Amino acid sequence: MPRPIIIAPSILSADFAALGAEVRAIEEAGADWVHYDVMDGHFVPNLTIGPGVAAALRPHVTTKLDAHLMISPADPYLEDFAKAGCDTITVHAEAGPHLHRSLQHIRKLGKRAGVAINPGTSPEVVDYVLDLADLILVMTVNPGFGGQAFIPETLSKIAAIRARVGKRDIDIEVDGGITPETAPLVVRAGANALVAGSYVFKGGPAAYAANIGAIREAATAAL
Ligand code: DX5
Ligand code: ZN
Repeated sequence: MPRPIIIAPSILSADFAALGAEVRAIEEAGADWVHYDVMDGHFVPNLTIGPGVAAALRPHVTTKLDAHLMISPADPYLEDFAKAGCDTITVHAEAGPHLHRSLQHIRKLGKRAGVAINPGTSPEVVDYVLDLADLILVMTVNPGFGGQAFIPETLSKIAAIRARVGKRDIDIEVDGGITPETAPLVVRAGANALVAGSYVFKGGPAAYAANIGAIREAATAAL
């Protein structure tokens, strides 16, 4: 039985002046998780939001808050994101020297632990942390901005991660350039959780259900 498809809209493309309403709108439109992008202007060349906004948003989220930390170092902030109510906390393998320790820490905080890897990073970085990971996020663009084009070379890496994960209870998430055209490719390669920002939010709230539905339909047809 393949894992169910998860669609996780990235609120990076939402209206930041109305985040609570945006989250309610994407959940009503069928989102499975809410993907929360944290950027520090150091690990990635952009700045976004931190644990304070996550805490403010949490009461509006009825699904799961999926935090993607594009920050270095991440360790000093893990507790803050846990207290803010993030359900999954994902750190980048490239963001610090102690990936194993970071994942142990997230698990100890009672949260699902995720590892993200950039397009230029090899899949074997996850080999010795598989027993500590609940999610592996294969970046399908270079992190930092929404609206970038999908990098096709990442498909073979998704497959390599899928082979490594085997029957373990680990989600394989992809993030960047996901549309109804790229969704079947990543699902066939082995991904089950699909983050999408610009595609989901285009057209405003009236279009969210159709946008999420189009990605889900294309992804499910590839199972
Ligand atoms: C990129 C972020 C993504 C981004 C995806 O660094 O991690 O979550 O918002 O946006 P799209 O779907 O527009 O590529
Ligand atoms: Zn992200």
